Amino acid sequence: MLPGPTNVPERVTRAMYTPIINHRSDDFVELYEDTVEKTKKVFQTQGDAVCLSASGTGAVEASVVNLIKKGDRVIIPVNGEFSSRLAQMLEWAGATVIKLETPPGENASFEDVKEAFDNNKNIKAFYCVWNETSTGTMIKYLDKVKDLTSRNDSFYVVDGVSIVGGEELYVDKWGIDIAMTGAQKAFAAPPGISPIVVNARAKKYMIENPPNTMYFNLPRYFKYYEESKHTPFTPALPLLYAYREALNIILEEGLDKRINRHRVCSDALYSGLGAMGFTPFAKEDSRSTVVIALNYLEGLEDKIFRNTLANKFRVLVAGGFGNLKGKVFRVGCMGEVNRYHVMRTISAISSTLDMMGYNTKTLDALKIAEEKLKAL
Ligand SMILES: Cc1ncc(COP(=O)(O)O)c(C=O)c1O
Repeated sequence: MLPGPTNVPERVTRAMYTPIINHRSDDFVELYEDTVEKTKKVFQTQGDAVCLSASGTGAVEASVVNLIKKGDRVIIPVNGEFSSRLAQMLEWAGATVIKLETPPGENASFEDVKEAFDNNKNIKAFYCVWNETSTGTMIKYLDKVKDLTSRNDSFYVVDGVSIVGGEELYVDKWGIDIAMTGAQKAFAAPPGISPIVVNARAKKYMIENPPNTMYFNLPRYFKYYEESKHTPFTPALPLLYAYREALNIILEEGLDKRINRHRVCSDALYSGLGAMGFTPFAKEDSRSTVVIALNYLEGLEDKIFRNTLANKFRVLVAGGFGNLKGKVFRVGCMGEVNRYHVMRTISAISSTLDMMGYNTKTLDALKIAEEKLKAL
């Protein structure tokens, strides 16, 4: 139940046993073209997709080094570890970064973003971390940002590392120019492949203004793909096979069904754990459906709690980041998550609390979660 890496289905693990092939062969073309096309389906885009052999940070960095030049002005909401890292990358690329800072657990509102556009001219790009994994918050107005970015001729870039595949996303319809994720989160694949999608407008800009970088040089990836359906550098083949199998599973289930499953499971987790006395860390209007961050009960010791949960019940949850360490724990609700995981997590947490001397309302928690899970 980590917010990544998440459980990997057997079918996906087995795909990694496929013998290593020549990445300059027809076999590779079949694998990579299929993988790219399926990636585009999940992002709901007709643009280009590049499946980088890298963790999520690689894809996020690629979006920065291929778009941002010295002196560019960028707006970004900042409210946690991953949005801070992204703001740092933008600064390192030479941008003037207009940070919309909010306390952790809260998001900049759409009005804040609008105001930032009204007060600042010549904005090259709006960047955002859709789901701030460190605090369990999620931006819920991705569909509205296009009005601002298109009016200001700005690029619109979404770090969806911990959420794509688990929530609704329409890259083309919502006017997003660049978006990326990491395979180890809601896609339920092993870590190491991170897809990035780029629309025609952003692609044109990148080709006309190529970056001074080799590995994450996206124009190079576009050129190789156009010419031969290859990647410029040796791809992580076993991971690519696994990632393709994960995409097959996503498309077999269907995006709508998969998203509904994530939403229902998170509703059940919030309600069930809430019945035990845990309160969500994030404010209600910013609450994530894929990372459930909960405040610790008074006196509940993080290390003992998570170690007991892991060692006695084999349920892994994550702790807090930075100064939230010891104050919150985070339950991943992504990828394979289903009825079984929800009920087992609630009962394991309840038993752990009992063992630590807390009086928990186990039955109430299980009942309310069970009720919510009927929506599946
Ligand atoms: C929102 C977000 N962005 C970026 C990253 C970085 O991904 P990785 O650790 O795969 O490099 C993470 C990882 O959790 C994340 O949650």
